[in-house]
Amino acid sequence: MNETTKAIIKSTAPVLKEHGESITTEMYKVLFSKYPQTQELFKDATADQHKKLANAVYAYAANIDKLENLSKGIEKMATVHVKTNVRPEHYPMVGDALLQAIKIVLGEGATEEVMSAWEEAYGFLAEVLIAREKEMYSSI
Ligand code: HEM
Repeated sequence: MNETTKAIIKSTAPVLKEHGESITTEMYKVLFSKYPQTQELFKDATADQHKKLANAVYAYAANIDKLENLSKGIEKMATVHVKTNVRPEHYPMVGDALLQAIKIVLGEGATEEVMSAWEEAYGFLAEVLIAREKEMYSSI
């Protein structure tokens, strides 16, 4: 991720914080209708799952220039993902749904530049999680 991408992501953080829950509500709507096979993974999900994901998206945007602040959160997410059997092939599905939700919430602010920055940033975080989850799967 280059500095321009990071600056764009950071500039979207306040809006993401403000609309965090509508982003995740929208994301799950898209995810479960477009990719119904993911629904099974959330069968034991807690009621505050929306909030957790919204917070994670915001925390990522706000800390994009100091990712070391996220290492504890990444460890927790990877642990929960392994417990619920999240696999690498699920990431493009969540990415598609999340980007669509971000686009809706940012409205006119969702320029091509902003959306491609988010696509890159999501891909980066997905790679980090997939790599950590791979290590965890191989040790169980
Ligand atoms: C970069 C992408 C992702 C982020 C930022 C993210 C974030 C999170 C967070 C913050 C949690 C809550 C962890 C906790 O309990 O403290 C979580 C749980 C979970 N995530 Fe993800 N996630 C991502 C990708 C995925 C993918 C690809 C799937 C598969 C469809 C998925 C499915 C789940 C499930 C099933 C849970 C557990 C829900 C529950 O039982 O409460 N996540 N994720």
